[in-house]
Amino acid sequence: MTTDNAGSKASAVKWLLFLVVAIAAIAVLRNVLFSRHEAVAPAPQDAATAQAVEARIKPVGEVSIAPAPPRAASVPAAPAVQTAASGPAAADAGAAKPAQTVADAAPSKAGETTYHSLCTGCHSIGAMGAPRYGDKAAWAPRIAQGMQALYHSALHGKNAMPAKGGNPSLSDADVKAAVDYMVAAAK
Ligand code: HEC
Repeated sequence: MTTDNAGSKASAVKWLLFLVVAIAAIAVLRNVLFSRHEAVAPAPQDAATAQAVEARIKPVGEVSIAPAPPRAASVPAAPAVQTAASGPAAADAGAAKPAQTVADAAPSKAGETTYHSLCTGCHSIGAMGAPRYGDKAAWAPRIAQGMQALYHSALHGKNAMPAKGGNPSLSDADVKAAVDYMVAAAK
């Protein structure tokens, strides 16, 4: 009797243990499945959102009104580029792109540099009603005023257009060259 009793007690305990383990196992499994499901669903959305935001932010990121470097970059670069344009620049694939663009538009090198370092901040996206780079319709009536008028606006400002694009340390020549560069792209 005692043995039987002990035996049935032991098997009851075993069953209990089995039940507990089984329930725990199910709970763990559910947890794993659930958390996986949860982890998978929002992650791509976040990634997509982040990408979309990044893509949307990108052009705005170029609106870098960095006044200091342009002159330093444009002035010493000019002779180096001209030398390079005649020979090695074309062979150097890595540096070819900027060097060649510059070589193609040799006279407006300073203008291109100035434009891309400053003017592009407003003129690439048309900020505050700025005539966009390459937008012929927007530039036509302005070009019709004559270059002197455009130079004057660029040098001294016009409405939301700040004098020298907001960088008074630019030389008049660089600002005029930037105007030439923009006008050339809109003709
Ligand atoms: C902060 C924004 C901004 C920056 C930076 C900027 N511009 Fe402008 N620009 C404008 C706006 C706005 C106009 C339109 C002004 C108007 O006609 O009311 C304009 C117009 C012009 C015009 C046409 C002026 C006319 O008389 O029709 C020229 C030329 C010009 N910008 C040159 C430049 C050059 C060169 C630079 C860089 C050195 C530059 N801009 C940088 C905002 C900017």
